[in-house]
Amino acid sequence: MKLNRRTVVATALASPLILRAAAAADDLSATIKINTENTRGEIDRKLFGNFIEHLGRCIDGGVFQEGSKLATAAGYRRDVLEAVRGLDVTLLRWPGGNFSSNYHWMDGVGPRDARPPRLEMAWGTVESNRFGTHEFLDYAELLKTEPYICANLGTGTWTEAQQWVEYCNSSQDTAITRERRKNGRKDPWKVTYWGLGNEMDGPWQMGHRSADDYGKFALEAAKLMRWTDPNVKLIAAGSSNYAAGVDWSLWNRTVVEHLQNYIDYLAIHLYVGNPNDDFGEFLASSRLMDDKIETTAKVIDGALAGRTDGKKVHIAFDEYNVWYRARGESQRGRNILEEHYNLEDALVIATFLSSLVNHADVVKIANMAQLVNVIAPIFTNDEALFLQTIYYPLQLFAQNVKGHSLKVDVEVPTYDTKQWSDVPYLDVSGAIDGNTLLLNVVNRHADQPIEATIALEDKSFAGTLGVAEVNGPGIKSTNDFNKSEVRAQLRTAAATGKTAQYRFPAHSFTQLKAALA
Ligand code: AHR
Repeated sequence: MKLNRRTVVATALASPLILRAAAAADDLSATIKINTENTRGEIDRKLFGNFIEHLGRCIDGGVFQEGSKLATAAGYRRDVLEAVRGLDVTLLRWPGGNFSSNYHWMDGVGPRDARPPRLEMAWGTVESNRFGTHEFLDYAELLKTEPYICANLGTGTWTEAQQWVEYCNSSQDTAITRERRKNGRKDPWKVTYWGLGNEMDGPWQMGHRSADDYGKFALEAAKLMRWTDPNVKLIAAGSSNYAAGVDWSLWNRTVVEHLQNYIDYLAIHLYVGNPNDDFGEFLASSRLMDDKIETTAKVIDGALAGRTDGKKVHIAFDEYNVWYRARGESQRGRNILEEHYNLEDALVIATFLSSLVNHADVVKIANMAQLVNVIAPIFTNDEALFLQTIYYPLQLFAQNVKGHSLKVDVEVPTYDTKQWSDVPYLDVSGAIDGNTLLLNVVNRHADQPIEATIALEDKSFAGTLGVAEVNGPGIKSTNDFNKSEVRAQLRTAAATGKTAQYRFPAHSFTQLKAALA
């Protein structure tokens, strides 16, 4: 990493204002300026969603393990339930992912022992269908989380998608709702969030189509779903295919043009990794997320230009994570996509969450992929579980970030990577909720702390500062069943007046919570 000594001023479309200042390599300092009136929009709590897919041991052996001494009578793992509760999951997506593109929901209702096992081609297994619509929606109720169902727009039909909405949401007396009642559920669950397929732009997807074909097909599904329940909110499958030579923005533009009268969100995905073991480069990955969001927001605006009815289509970032070690053609079967995360992965996740908060005006849904075992913050075996490093930033954001997203001015030294220039050493997002200020700060420096002055323009610090720090002995530190090197350490510091000093340790994520007066 090279420390920049020149001064550059840059304003990204919606990122924090970054003022890059000259600094000596051995004297890293920063100024974080805040005016609590300077906001960019309300933070939708659905930014802190998660995702469970019929994939590896996410559901079977993770969320759900019938016959285990750790499971409830219904089959849910009690220890997992408790760990999930710690994440305050605001929105839970199911059943896929790639799995959803050949999932026929009727296979997964009725007596469990009578449900048909089916060949599962996305991940190369047999799907038992023992965890289906009732098991998912009952789980969401147990968690008090909002469910989000992704319909099969790959090999599925319009009628299947429509009847799934009818089964879940209708109070009418029909053959479909009689079936629901017969299966033990009298009142509809009233599922609001429905996906119109998953990653339909990817050749790896079952039922992959061109943007035009998908737009036309999804439109008819959307009409039937909306006419079944006018309250549903629909999420179109946006771009996920970032292969060289693919114009992923064109997919988004075409899809929004076709579906604009029916959709509320456009879904985009991003996975990143550190295959070359380059810490500085990896820690700058949130630049990719910023770019996906800002480019997509412009494309949506372009597709809706000319409308006079104020129609909005927001971004649903409904899959994101670090995923590169357990990835590739060999990932088929049972113990797959089981990434073992370290501290640097947790720091990248903190910068992703800050990117979502820094774009809170346009991103209104986000789901970490996934919840348990499969590229996940919670990892189980048959006896126990442990919390992966990425659990902690997600938990801190989900539990504490609310209110309005702040435009924070940050003056800090920057560095260049092979791909990016002027990456600020401090990655910052902020939120104001009444008189509570929240700052999320990642120190991207591998070895050096950064001394920051936090200056309030229109308010004062009212006493103590709550500090939560996610850190560990080194950037490769990990957790496991028998060790917990990376976790959140909580403490308090004193802060009064217009400014506070805080020293952000090397390779750390710090969340500061301050009462203001
Ligand atoms: O989350 C793992 C997989 O990644 C999902 O099934 C798919 O949507 C994406 O490619």
